[in-house]
Amino acid sequence: MPAFPLKDKVAPIVWRGDRLRVLDQRLLPRRVSYIDCRTAQDVARATAEMALRGAPLIGCAAAYGMALAARRGRRELPEAAAALKAARPTAVNLAHAVDHMLAAARQADGSLARELERQARDYYQADLRANQTMARLGAALLRKKTRVITYCNAGALATSGLGTSLGVIRYAHHLGKVEHVYACETRPYLQGSRLTLWELMNGGVPCTLITDNMAAHMMKLGGIGAIFVGADRIAANADVCNKIGTYGLAILAKYHRIPFYVVAPTSTIDPATPVGDAIPIEERSAAEIVRIQGREIAPKGAAARHFAFDVTPRSLVTAIVTERGIIRPAGARALRRVLS
Ligand code: MRU
Repeated sequence: MPAFPLKDKVAPIVWRGDRLRVLDQRLLPRRVSYIDCRTAQDVARATAEMALRGAPLIGCAAAYGMALAARRGRRELPEAAAALKAARPTAVNLAHAVDHMLAAARQADGSLARELERQARDYYQADLRANQTMARLGAALLRKKTRVITYCNAGALATSGLGTSLGVIRYAHHLGKVEHVYACETRPYLQGSRLTLWELMNGGVPCTLITDNMAAHMMKLGGIGAIFVGADRIAANADVCNKIGTYGLAILAKYHRIPFYVVAPTSTIDPATPVGDAIPIEERSAAEIVRIQGREIAPKGAAARHFAFDVTPRSLVTAIVTERGIIRPAGARALRRVLS
């Protein structure tokens, strides 16, 4: 059996000492092109404008953003932290990474720049190790030759290099436990069709694109053995916030008695948010709904709303896979145990 690649070939971010190179995911799959971020504000802008995305990745990039700010001196840190935290409100990994870097800065007694660069590297490496552990733990949930559905993109492009739910799927495929992946296209940003399909096809995993509204029919036809998704924030009671449409998929999975698995590192768990309904849901521009890749798909002046995330109640979640173990059933006490 060929060795399983523990990191994808295409890196969504690359640290170059004086800048962070960010793969512009808006251009995928047509073009692989990088943007240079030289300041924390550049990283914040690239995050807000979705050049990079995915909860763990925006955390790792924010850590490097703080390292860039540290190169300009300690006084830069509060402003950099505020800009990075404000870039996107829902994925808690962003605040987790920034707070981690601020704490490191408080303790640094040598060169601040060198210390924060080392901390950002460690943060990134820890995420990669978490991906690898989750892949191993999550794959153990499956028996042979399962057909799975996934949503959005929770792969190498959304993390430090392997993925959360897509890392599990890719490793399980390597072990012969995943036969086929159905990827929902994920309106309106099309992370499923543009990014997940690209990753799976590059990795040689048999996959088929379906539109979001085909998932129910696919489940009814039978043969779907599991659903795997990532998460942007998991509340203290184990409610799961993820890409808009995840909640609907979880309801469908329950109805069809298909296990619904969430894969997320512990940096996605937010003990300070008691329940899912308290999670701030990003609402993006309606222009992203009435246009697809620059082309109008609604009458001029049409009203539209664009919620970027939704919350799936824990009762619909079969298990949460973290790098510190599997939480099953998803509940507050089990979550606290994993965090401690
Ligand atoms: O808006 P995005 O593309 O940043 O949303 C990404 C998701 O919702 C992912 O499922 C989630 O961040 C987990 S990525 C490992």
